Amino acid sequence: MVDIHCHVLPGLDDGPESLEMSIAMCEMAIADGITHVIATPHADASYAFQPDLIRRRRDELQARFEGRIELATGCDFHLSFENIEDLRPYPAKYTLNQKRYLLVEFNDYSIPPAMDQTLHHLQLYGATPIITHPERNPLIRNNTERLYRWIRTGCYVQITAQSILGKFGAQAMTMAESWLKDGAVHFFASDAHNVTSRPLQLKEAYAKVASKNGKDVAEGLFVDNPRAVFDGEALPFVLELPEDRGHAPGARKKKKRFWFF
Ligand SMILES: [Fe+2]
Repeated sequence: MVDIHCHVLPGLDDGPESLEMSIAMCEMAIADGITHVIATPHADASYAFQPDLIRRRRDELQARFEGRIELATGCDFHLSFENIEDLRPYPAKYTLNQKRYLLVEFNDYSIPPAMDQTLHHLQLYGATPIITHPERNPLIRNNTERLYRWIRTGCYVQITAQSILGKFGAQAMTMAESWLKDGAVHFFASDAHNVTSRPLQLKEAYAKVASKNGKDVAEGLFVDNPRAVFDGEALPFVLELPEDRGHAPGARKKKKRFWFF
């Protein structure tokens, strides 16, 4: 499996405080069956984004795991005006593995109408937005149609693996299951911060998705799509969304798969 969102590098944000803790997180990932990890420290008002330092921390950690797990870098991008202006001339400064996809995080108390335009601008600048854990955001949970509109205009959706296991509450789990049925989920990721409450693990969530939604869905969302992000390729597993939301979440069963070549 491939994890495109986790806080595994030491001393950069609210993730691990020491190299030893980062090493323990990587051992946990390897034991869980994870082969590739993109380290995504926060880039927001609380944590300054320092790509050179991030690269050095990655190299230091990678040196302990040569041949056992592959580490790349990116960030957990806060959609502030300053961040977006800084990204504009050189998006690869912020994108995942310096390729085409960008993790974007919304805050829980306000998503202004202009955000739709902002997400479009990011794409014009060359960064394809991946909306991180919308199931944990009450504003997005209450406006599924807006999320689907973002998907229809070229954004993708990442769910936190622990959400599908109920560890972020019943509402987050129910919403994630509903979006999953609708084909509105493109990745699962750990969003790990430590080895206890926020572990670097995906296997249990994979097993649940495989049993409820099918193995092909689990492979697409835990392996094939995240691997394509790691490599900067088009996503191989994308489901068609329902045409509108004039019905209960998850009610429309008809799904059609199409593939990008
Ligand atoms: Fe995160």
